[in-house]
Amino acid sequence: MLSLDQVTYQYPTGERPALRDLTLTIPAGQFCAVVGANGAGKSTLAYTLAGFVPHFYRGTLTGSVSVAGLDTTKATLADLVRRVGLVFQSPYNQISGSKFTVREEVAFGLENLGVPRDEMAARVAATLELVGIAALAERSPLNLSGGQMQRVALAAVLAMQPQVLVLDEPTSQLDPVGAKEVFSAVQALAAAGRVTVVMVEHKLEWVAAFAERVLVLADGALAADGPPTEVLAEAALAVGAGQTRYTQAARLARARGGLPAEQPLPVTLPQAVAAFGGRRA
Ligand SMILES: Nc1ncnc2c1ncn2[C@@H]1O[C@H](COP(=O)(O)OP(=O)(O)OP(=O)(O)O)[C@@H](O)[C@H]1O
Ligand SMILES: [Mg+2]
Repeated sequence: MLSLDQVTYQYPTGERPALRDLTLTIPAGQFCAVVGANGAGKSTLAYTLAGFVPHFYRGTLTGSVSVAGLDTTKATLADLVRRVGLVFQSPYNQISGSKFTVREEVAFGLENLGVPRDEMAARVAATLELVGIAALAERSPLNLSGGQMQRVALAAVLAMQPQVLVLDEPTSQLDPVGAKEVFSAVQALAAAGRVTVVMVEHKLEWVAAFAERVLVLADGALAADGPPTEVLAEAALAVGAGQTRYTQAARLARARGGLPAEQPLPVTLPQAVAAFGGRRA
């Protein structure tokens, strides 16, 4: 469904590559998270999957990128937009600024695709409901909190029913409850086989709980790739991508002799409960 083969990319003004020799395949329906330190290349990878690299950012791309059956360097952005949805890191970059209501904003992409009116209205209503912003339908998209705007940006992309959904830190402006809702909505879509998800995210507790697979980027290269339990206990921390609070607590406990050294570190709350279970402080 999604594959990169020896992809290296350098921005026109970049002094060195932002992505280095990436080779990976993501099967249809997988929920894959991308983590890494600031500047590791996460947003650049998101742009590359959506075709903004190289179509919009230009620069030099070598290797090949195939997404939803399209070679992104050969396909036009117009073709790519129909199949790949990108939710930008900042929702302010996503809102059109030309619509009076949230409902119109979410319908905007569908108008451009020529979706019939009835179908459009139904899709928009269902998407607003899914993302938890039905109550904001008649509000101005410009007069919302950061978190509300982030949900509008997500809804606008979901309404297009892309085969591949690329999200760049879609919960950065949301409170913990809002972040969890976005993760579960996206997980449900992936689990229903409706979309393949690549989500850049700093909130490792949610990544650990929801993603099937985690890619760790370091300095533009793939530093680790595997299930959250494998990757988030050690490899992510080693390259400055952090650890979950559960791993952190367990690591501290282990250093003080409170957990056996050979026991794998937990990455989720249930794993932490199991790791500490039966022990007395
Ligand atoms: N438009 C651009 N032109 C030139 N260099 C860029 C551009 N955007 C990003 N870079 C550089 O490319 C590298 C990767 O940046 P990128 O934004 O992909 O990192 P990131 O992992 O998303 O970081 P963050 O966690 O801060 O969002 C960095 O060295 C950055 O300075
Ligand atoms: Mg980024």
